[in-house]
Amino acid sequence: MTRPRVLFVCLGNICRSPLAEAALRAEADRVGLDIEVDSAGTGDWHVGEPPDSRAIAQARRHGIDISGYRGRQVRKADFDDFTHVLALDHDNLAALEDLVPPGRENRLSLLLDHVEGCEGQPVADPYFGDADGFERTWSQVTAAARALVSELAR
Ligand code: 4NP
Repeated sequence: MTRPRVLFVCLGNICRSPLAEAALRAEADRVGLDIEVDSAGTGDWHVGEPPDSRAIAQARRHGIDISGYRGRQVRKADFDDFTHVLALDHDNLAALEDLVPPGRENRLSLLLDHVEGCEGQPVADPYFGDADGFERTWSQVTAAARALVSELAR
């Protein structure tokens, strides 16, 4: 089996996709799955920046330090480098559909399509909301991480 390489993509790469990255790293570690995980944004505003302080705090509440993560923008070559490119919401998915090279479309999907009962749903953007939004993001990305690990371990 080729080692899965998973890239999470949101808008800014400072709130949702770093939390998805942290959740999948933790779940893969827990079950001993050898996997590569990264995250990126469709936008370039936060390139080189650490995650949003509220995202750092959310991960820390679950014992995970994401303060060393740095934002980067998604690029076409990511579809060669990653076996799974997962969009956090429909806008992210549309941006990635514009970027994906021919023949790589099967690597791209909406994250919550991998979670039974949540197909077609977005991970809502918590950036302009309150701390509750980050709790909800965390619960969505941890559910996704569990689903992905069982899918990838098959
Ligand atoms: P993210 O959230 O896509 O989950 O990282 C956002 C971060 C920054 C902005 C929007 C959403 N922004 O407008 O800068």
